[in-house]
Amino acid sequence: MTALFRIAVAAGFAAAFLSVSPAQAYGRDGHRIVCDLAYRLLTDDARAEIDRLVARDAQFDHFRDVCSWADQVRGTTHRHTAPWHYINQRRDDPHIDPEDCADNGCITEAIDLHAGVFADPAQSDEERLEALKFLAHWLGDIHQPLHVSIEGDRGGNDIPVLWRGERRTNLHRVWDSEILLDHMSEEWPWAPEEDRWQYLADALAAEIPLDGVTVYAPLDPIAWAQQSHDIVRSRDFAYYWASADETIEPGEAYYQRSLRTNRDQLKQGGVRLAGLLNRIVRDAEMADDDEPADATG
Ligand code: ADE
Ligand code: ZN
Ligand code: ZN
Repeated sequence: MTALFRIAVAAGFAAAFLSVSPAQAYGRDGHRIVCDLAYRLLTDDARAEIDRLVARDAQFDHFRDVCSWADQVRGTTHRHTAPWHYINQRRDDPHIDPEDCADNGCITEAIDLHAGVFADPAQSDEERLEALKFLAHWLGDIHQPLHVSIEGDRGGNDIPVLWRGERRTNLHRVWDSEILLDHMSEEWPWAPEEDRWQYLADALAAEIPLDGVTVYAPLDPIAWAQQSHDIVRSRDFAYYWASADETIEPGEAYYQRSLRTNRDQLKQGGVRLAGLLNRIVRDAEMADDDEPADATG
């Protein structure tokens, strides 16, 4: 082996380990897919407005890349937003309502807050861009069923799992990343790992009904949270009775079932994000049209 080749092999190994940490994967792939699907379904006006705002971002070049920024800053510059990534329910309360939001906030309230800022023409472009980055992230999180969980186990982070007989992980990570990573490596093993999300996004986009934006309505964060919560409370989900003391060992049937659910949730997240952004931009245009031309007089 030449010295150069040896360095290249070492660098390849380092890249393979450093580039994808499973804990980051929903951050990296799930959020990117939701935003990529949404972007395809934007109206021309909404896309133009989103491109205009994202062009002002110092860190990112494309809408799909801004969508996991909220995870980057939850432990650093925006600590107060950490509880906004989820909502927890009491075990005896399966119905989501606005009163269930914790005092320091929750995901359904954060969606309303950031949709409001993004929609408000009186806010600066910087404020509206930041709100858009949060809003796009929340739409991904609220469709990850364990972000609408039962209180006491940090959304399944405390529930140990032996995944498909081989990997020690936890239930939250299974739903953030393991299912999607396994699916992508089984479907597109020949594609470089960092490109696989695009193949999954294309496959999901092709499955969205042509009238998807109306099919997946209404645009109601409480209803979206309820849908996720119904999933985690289902018998199939293996969560309601789970505890930190007992390792769950899901088999092949669990994987196949969860994959279908996970794919459906990503599609709905993308469609609903597009529906919300399209509506906000359309309403802003209509308000503009209503203004008298000589508003100064
Ligand atoms: N921490 C507490 N509850 C959580 C949840 N549902 N998802 C992610 N992190 C959490
Ligand atoms: Zn998040
Ligand atoms: Zn998560």
